[in-house]
Amino acid sequence: MNAQVRDKRLVAQSFSRAAATYDSVAALQRAVADQLINQLPVMTPEVVLDLGSGTGYATPLLRARYPQAQLFSLDLAEGMLAYARGRHRLESHHHICGDAEALPLADASVDLIFSSLAIQWCEQPRRLFAELARVLKPGGRALLATLGPATLSELRRAWAAVDDDRHVNEFLPLVQLEAAADALRPCWQQTELRVLEYERLGELMHELKALGAHNVNPRRRQGLSGPARLRILARAYDEQRLSNGRLPASYEIYYLDWIRTSA
Ligand SMILES: C[S@@+](CC[C@H](N)C(=O)[O-])C[C@H]1O[C@@H](n2cnc3c(N)ncnc32)[C@H](O)[C@@H]1O
Repeated sequence: MNAQVRDKRLVAQSFSRAAATYDSVAALQRAVADQLINQLPVMTPEVVLDLGSGTGYATPLLRARYPQAQLFSLDLAEGMLAYARGRHRLESHHHICGDAEALPLADASVDLIFSSLAIQWCEQPRRLFAELARVLKPGGRALLATLGPATLSELRRAWAAVDDDRHVNEFLPLVQLEAAADALRPCWQQTELRVLEYERLGELMHELKALGAHNVNPRRRQGLSGPARLRILARAYDEQRLSNGRLPASYEIYYLDWIRTSA
């Protein structure tokens, strides 16, 4: 894990600012959430938590599947929650501002945690999974979609031609996630590689910014001027064009269905 931990206030700020633009560029995020929804377990939960709920895409899908459940949409970014509140007004549905690594929820109070493309923002997996296990009832389920280390590898490689700062988030391999999750046991898991394509690097950068997912990592040094650095970056990315001439951006997606062990 990188010694320089990302500032969560910056993560929250970045996603809050992106709330109004997020849905316009979140096709991949919706496709992943849909896939995770298809894996929802057959159960009759009293309490369902959508962790890192963003603009609330999954809310009506979770409500349709579990009409009797209390639904909690939790997010670090107040701006995301404000946007989501304006979008859905449902019975037994509450919005909570909070951090996945320090959940403002009671022990053994949740039957099902649903979380699509949010936990990759957490840098302390032991703490994160201890929190998920703490709030889950014994036998409760955590249905998670998160990102693996091949995600945005082309962008990481291109930045490496510019400097050795951390410009792109690092994502942990599945074995490390599993090793960090003491009280959760896998029921089912799957890995998928999706490669998005762009004509220009600017399109990818614009999309990451509109998602709120652009770089908020601490900067160590700035050698070359901005335009010079961007020229090197663009050239290094260009060298990775596919045979169809387009620029690839890989997303390695883990779908995890974990159960809270009773011990
Ligand atoms: C890529 S968006 C995904 C949103 C939604 N789940 C979806 O599929 O559209 C990631 C969300 O996770 C939230 N997030 C990031 N770090 C978080 C944390 N530590 N605790 C709770 N939410 C967090 C962000 O604010 C953002 O709304």
